[in-house]
Amino acid sequence: MDYRRNYIKHLLESQPKQSVSAYGWVKTRRDSKGVHFVQINDGSCFADLQVVIPDGAIAEDLIKRITVGACVRFEGDLVESPASGQRVELTAKHVEIFGDADPVSYPLQKKGASFEFLREISHLRVRGNTFGAVFRIRNELSWATHKFFHDRGFLYVHTPIISASDCEGAGAMFTVTTLDLENPPRKNEKVDFAQDFFARQAYLTVSGQLNVECFAQAFTNCYTFGPTFRAENSSTARHLAEFWMIEPEQAFCDLEGNINLAEEYLKYLIEHVLQNCAQDLAFFNQRIEPTVIETLEHVRESAFERITYTEAIKLLEQSGETFEYPVSWGCDLQSEHERYLTEKKIGKPVIVTDYPKQIKAFYMRMNDDEKTVRAMDVLVPRIGEIIGGSQREERHDVLLHRIREAGLPEEPYWWYLDLRKYGSAPHSGFGLGLERMLMYVTGMKNIRDVIPFYRVPGSAEF
Ligand code: 4AD
Ligand code: MG
Repeated sequence: MDYRRNYIKHLLESQPKQSVSAYGWVKTRRDSKGVHFVQINDGSCFADLQVVIPDGAIAEDLIKRITVGACVRFEGDLVESPASGQRVELTAKHVEIFGDADPVSYPLQKKGASFEFLREISHLRVRGNTFGAVFRIRNELSWATHKFFHDRGFLYVHTPIISASDCEGAGAMFTVTTLDLENPPRKNEKVDFAQDFFARQAYLTVSGQLNVECFAQAFTNCYTFGPTFRAENSSTARHLAEFWMIEPEQAFCDLEGNINLAEEYLKYLIEHVLQNCAQDLAFFNQRIEPTVIETLEHVRESAFERITYTEAIKLLEQSGETFEYPVSWGCDLQSEHERYLTEKKIGKPVIVTDYPKQIKAFYMRMNDDEKTVRAMDVLVPRIGEIIGGSQREERHDVLLHRIREAGLPEEPYWWYLDLRKYGSAPHSGFGLGLERMLMYVTGMKNIRDVIPFYRVPGSAEF
């Protein structure tokens, strides 16, 4: 079995030819007057390959085993297809069955199963149409991300997953420990993490930002792209406990440069998906969200709106809407507020800047008003916040003051503060949640359906 064999995508694009093999999993089978029609898919593209088994071409005992879900190889001739919707089909002469699938118990047998049900069979759902399309687009977004940054001279850096500091200062972290949970060592009534594996309490990182900042102050432009972890107890359609984030960081860059990069990057991803994922996108447009292609085409062309937090609050106060969470200057923007701004009021992506310092992380650069910080959130219709970022506080004393003011322990941040002592550069960066972006470009409504195996409160199966 040669890895250079033809994938179904290639077969569907090729001219008729004799003696080819096609590998895949059976999607459907239909029988009519001794002739069998089988659709197989290998994940290489949305379309299935139609295999026609002429009467008597394959022994009956083998035919019986060609059931939905079975893993097979067909050998035969690729011929012009008389049916509409495909150029070629395979006239089968032989079949090899690698793995049977019991048609009675195979869980993907039923058409139209709900996404909730499919989440319970995450190990198999990837063989279906929707998830095939989701994960091909996810792959394209990842590849386009590397291409975008590489073409612009950004260094890709692998920041650690285990961390001793809380980047967002929100305290929503998972502890990583090898201590005996039944009987942990104690000192002054508290668990003594000095005796733990890392000789201190360590966590799964919530963001690679603090580490990527070190690299930006040596390589100027860099980015990290990896898994991040949040132990917040939010069971919403937009939150995961483990998600993937792309975080660029640039030295010699202020908030405006940062916003420009974010807008260019989002448009680049959209353009890439429109150019390279037409079949998959057509499916989402038809079956999941009828506005998805139109939205992407519109966003590609339009300039993102830019407003300050203070202006956003005014728009919300004047909106005449009744929000569940009341609005006043100083409040955090909730999903309902973000969606009003981007969906109803402005009708395209909006970048909100200069938030009150109380509702943003300690590392954001303080404005001269001493009330707001150089933060920026990118909000998009249907999703709300898709990017969060800022210009960073590069002044040592101001940063130290902010850490203290936020009630954070100073010790874990000593090296982060050091960056401000030695050759501190003005710098900025942001984080894009890969899954939120994937929801945006596919129209999928629940974030659990755009990550291979989701981790949320109460669930880490598979
Ligand atoms: O706004 P956040 O928390 O920003 C940071 O982590 C910064 N350190 C990024 C930076 O400046 N380098 O998260 C950034 C983005 C959000 O806008 C959202 O898209 C996504 O990460 N995100 C989540 N996605 C899924 N589930 C969650 N629980 C998420 N929390 C944030
Ligand atoms: Mg945020």
